[in-house]
Amino acid sequence: MIRINENYLKLQSSYLFAHIAKRVEAFQAQHPDREIIRMGIGDVTRALPAACIDALHKATDELAQDSSFRGYGPEQGYAFLREKIAQHDFQDRGASIAADEIFVSDGAKCDTGNIQEIFATDIRVAVPDPVYPVYVDTNVMAGRTGTFQDGRYEGLVYLDCTEANGYVPALPQEPVDLIYLCFPNNPTGATITHAQLGQWVRYAHEHKALILYDAAYEAFIRDESLPRTIYEIDGARNVAIEFRSFSKTAGFTGTRCAFTVVPKSCKAHTADGQVITVYDLWNRRHTTKFNSVSYPVQRAAEAVYSPEGQAQVRELTDYYLNNAAFIRQAFTDLGYPCVGGDNSPYIWINGRRDSWAFFDLLLEKAGVVCTPGAGFGTCGQGYIRLSAFNSFANVQKAMNLIQTALT
Ligand code: MLT
Repeated sequence: MIRINENYLKLQSSYLFAHIAKRVEAFQAQHPDREIIRMGIGDVTRALPAACIDALHKATDELAQDSSFRGYGPEQGYAFLREKIAQHDFQDRGASIAADEIFVSDGAKCDTGNIQEIFATDIRVAVPDPVYPVYVDTNVMAGRTGTFQDGRYEGLVYLDCTEANGYVPALPQEPVDLIYLCFPNNPTGATITHAQLGQWVRYAHEHKALILYDAAYEAFIRDESLPRTIYEIDGARNVAIEFRSFSKTAGFTGTRCAFTVVPKSCKAHTADGQVITVYDLWNRRHTTKFNSVSYPVQRAAEAVYSPEGQAQVRELTDYYLNNAAFIRQAFTDLGYPCVGGDNSPYIWINGRRDSWAFFDLLLEKAGVVCTPGAGFGTCGQGYIRLSAFNSFANVQKAMNLIQTALT
């Protein structure tokens, strides 16, 4: 008799963004003439940078000739891309990361979801609250939790991120083994300082823990005093894995390209205390289950690091940050406290009412889709998240409609 992985039955009925899409679809079906402005899921709307498009075309042409055709590439990604990443994103910032410690992939969502597979099922896992739901759901699927009670899964250690702590969680009171951190944060848009991140790195050393550091929104950091990578912190190479993505940096949400950094100095343990190199496990998993990203897409990602690519990506991220500043100002003027939006494309707004009620109000009265904070965890109740990944014209229109709806 075929049986299921019953851990799946503990999950909420659908993935947050799929659930929102369904609700919006139902609303649109009832109101076919209403214009809807989507500021919920963080999906980019502007064209790929010209440097990436040129590289895509060129690489596609190479595939049209036997002499330059490519079949399977290295599972970890082509050296031309891994070397650029290592140089520009890490070594130029004083972070000692080698090209062969980089694993090119098809998304930070997949990597942050898959990485937990290489760790034991009975470890103690700490997640922020509010949190990107992928970290939680994948640990539920793997059987690391009990049931969902009062908005939280039994067995997980939740790290509260609130106005009071500036959305940077305090170190856990109890020992944990695996820690998820995300900065600039999704969903709150909050950032972390070197000193704060240093505390987490020290904690991980003291407790033989490992940090999973999601830096998918790093390209939006404008405050030069903030860390761009966890590897700017002394000792992080031994206790942290970092996730990055071209999705939000260069508009690759549909094109798909990301990477994960697994330093060879990161160690984990067997039940009987044997020390294992995490890199070897991830490499084993990656080579078994993944064939990397297509050649033209890796060439397009490489083009991000050319001088033109760097300028175009800067222009793209500046554009979205300008939207973010506009949204933040509009809500501040309406008297709603906000964070994020300065070093992040997300604005976290204290709606002072139930998150889903605010979601419904904005959809029905203004035709604007947000993400209810409660969907990211109990600490998100009362908040909504707006994404700045839209055209400036739509953002202006949405803020006007919201102003009318709320006043
Ligand atoms: C979000 O809206 O939180 C992101 O788009 C989700 C993702 O990157 O998977």
